[in-house]
Amino acid sequence: MKLKYAILLLTLVAFFNGRSQQVIPIETKDFSMVFKTDQNKRLWNVYFGKKLSNLSDYNQIADQYEFPNSNAGIYNAAYTPSGTWSLSEPAIQVTHADGNQATDLIFEEVITTEVDEASLTKIKLVDPIYNLNIILNFKVWKDLNVIEQWTQINNNEDGSIDLKKYASANLYFTNKDFFLTHYQGEYLRELQPVEEKLSQGTKVIESKLGTRAMLLGSPNFMLSFETPSQEDSGLVVLGQLAWSGNYKLEFDIDSHQNLRLLAGINPYESTYTLNKGESFKTPSLIYTVSDKGAGNASRQIHSWAKNYRVLDGNGDRLTLLNNWEATYFDFNESKLSKLIENTSHLGLDLFLLDDGWFGNNHPRNNDDAGLGDWKENKKKLPNGLRYLVKQAKKNDIKFGIWIEPEMVNPESDLFKTHPEWVIKQPERPAKLYRNQMVLDLTNPEVQDFVYGIVDHLFTENPEIAFIKWDCNAVIYNAYSNYLNENKVSQNHLYIDYVHGLYDVLKRIREKYPKVPMMLCSGGGGRADYGFLKYFTEFWPSDNTEPIERIFLQWNYSFFFPAVTMDCHVTHWGKQPLKFKVDVASMGKLGFDIDLSHMSQEDIQFAKQSIQNYNGFKNVVLHGEQYRLASPYKNPFASLMYVNNDKSQAIMFNFLSSNRFMEIMTKRPIKLKGLNPDKHYKVKEINLYNNTKTTINESAVYSGDFLMTVGINPNITGNRTSVILKFEEVN
Ligand code: DGJ
Repeated sequence: MKLKYAILLLTLVAFFNGRSQQVIPIETKDFSMVFKTDQNKRLWNVYFGKKLSNLSDYNQIADQYEFPNSNAGIYNAAYTPSGTWSLSEPAIQVTHADGNQATDLIFEEVITTEVDEASLTKIKLVDPIYNLNIILNFKVWKDLNVIEQWTQINNNEDGSIDLKKYASANLYFTNKDFFLTHYQGEYLRELQPVEEKLSQGTKVIESKLGTRAMLLGSPNFMLSFETPSQEDSGLVVLGQLAWSGNYKLEFDIDSHQNLRLLAGINPYESTYTLNKGESFKTPSLIYTVSDKGAGNASRQIHSWAKNYRVLDGNGDRLTLLNNWEATYFDFNESKLSKLIENTSHLGLDLFLLDDGWFGNNHPRNNDDAGLGDWKENKKKLPNGLRYLVKQAKKNDIKFGIWIEPEMVNPESDLFKTHPEWVIKQPERPAKLYRNQMVLDLTNPEVQDFVYGIVDHLFTENPEIAFIKWDCNAVIYNAYSNYLNENKVSQNHLYIDYVHGLYDVLKRIREKYPKVPMMLCSGGGGRADYGFLKYFTEFWPSDNTEPIERIFLQWNYSFFFPAVTMDCHVTHWGKQPLKFKVDVASMGKLGFDIDLSHMSQEDIQFAKQSIQNYNGFKNVVLHGEQYRLASPYKNPFASLMYVNNDKSQAIMFNFLSSNRFMEIMTKRPIKLKGLNPDKHYKVKEINLYNNTKTTINESAVYSGDFLMTVGINPNITGNRTSVILKFEEVN
């Protein structure tokens, strides 16, 4: 490891020229981002693009651009300071220990080491006047073209300093035109894409919700250069701020029409005090670069997520039956026992008991009471969870449970005993969201309480095999008693909340490293790579209407692999059961249904389809995903997954519009990701009971044919969803 570091330094030393400038390339397999110092040792971002073959060529890049400086300052600082020579939007704003507000940063050293199958470059910048230093970190997974970037700020001044702004990343792109895809959202309409050409000024994407970072917007984005984003061509950067609280992404087109990107924690009400000797580590901006369009970028980030970020990203997932939409709060032991039997009858792996199982003085019979009182409701469950766990065991399935441990209803014993544990302005009336408030996770006692909920569940019932972790409120009236009592600024609340939550999750994972956990937030208000270190999967939306789901899952698929996405069949939508199951089979399959409302034929099909899913889920969950036809551009949607050796592929096709004369696939759909030299036979799978396929299953096609000409899945008004399995023939 030491050797590599030494070699890199030598290379860099060789780049010193007469003017003692230093060039620092951050390189992936195909791309590089290059920093260069000037005579004053300030560090500039001079290149972002395709990797050059000769390291020495990087030294000549800057001379090819003519961007005369103006009063606005110089735009491409590697980490823009404030209060001195730059008047551009800063990456960092500090009030120093003596009250001065000006910061400058000059380059001191660069170190590269190998860590966890990645290379980590640390660039140290220092303020020439104040004892403040900043380490820019770039962790690079070369082969995947993925970079994780964060910043560490170290206060060695003689007293405390205030960080008013502290970006994770400050990037600079000199291409000509920029198209930004960002996302709007609301409950049941999460992650709705908007693509726009950026023009001069700053486009800000942010959240101030405290929790549920993805409810109204999203820390995910895609930048496309020169043209709007395309699936299989063009240069794109696809990224996410991996932070589960307030974020701010600023896309700033400067007066040279270049793009500055500043990404980090939202500075809104978040000036953070660092005492002497303390450090602050920002969350990471994670991004991938592709010059083969969005499809390749998604596969790169999926592969990174599965191998290096998501808990058990390469592991199996449990199919399940969830009782939420089957019962809502209205259940008892016998209803649940029946659902447990149904779970087993269908051939699913696990029964998931949702909201409503707890609260006695304040029974959780609705969403207005009981949250916080994590003891079984004696009326509904006289024999406790233990009985249900036993029932599950008897039926040869596993048992999972829902919790929402960060929240509390005012109508609860918890609130009445610990009103001081709640986030709320002391003098103002409470503002509730879904009748509840958020617990103050800056408080270690509250952290212990939240950890204790999970620990107690597992200690009492070691067989519990799955947790659904929900979060249905935002932070209103931001104020922490704990911070007040400990004389810590209220401006720490939004950040220390997230840190407190991560600490709880770390503790849970130390003791229970493997148990699968679903991240849920009244739908898709939460799904980010800050959380997904601790969770195996997430719930994209409460909207399970299958046509809507095609669009939602399509959008999520840009950033998240299928193995992380929980997709349930419910009673939403008028489509036939087959359509619903096929849509839900593009992720981790689950059911949220009551069999007593289903026909025998549908039950029989459901059983068969679960067996079918188990037969191909390996390809979907662990293979590579290719988006073939967008429902935004066609009356149908088509996606496929290919296994690692390209011997098997599963293609999903759906009619997503029902306009007259549009209800058919008129042309073949071109497959992707196959081996052109292999030959494949095709079979339609998951057909509804006794239905016959219209696909010619005796034909054998070359990969070349399937990818050049394609195949027509014969989508029609009677065949609204079609799953095709391609298998190599030798
Ligand atoms: C919101 C979740 O998204 C639902 O799936 C369900 O768990 C409810 N909360 C329960 O209150």
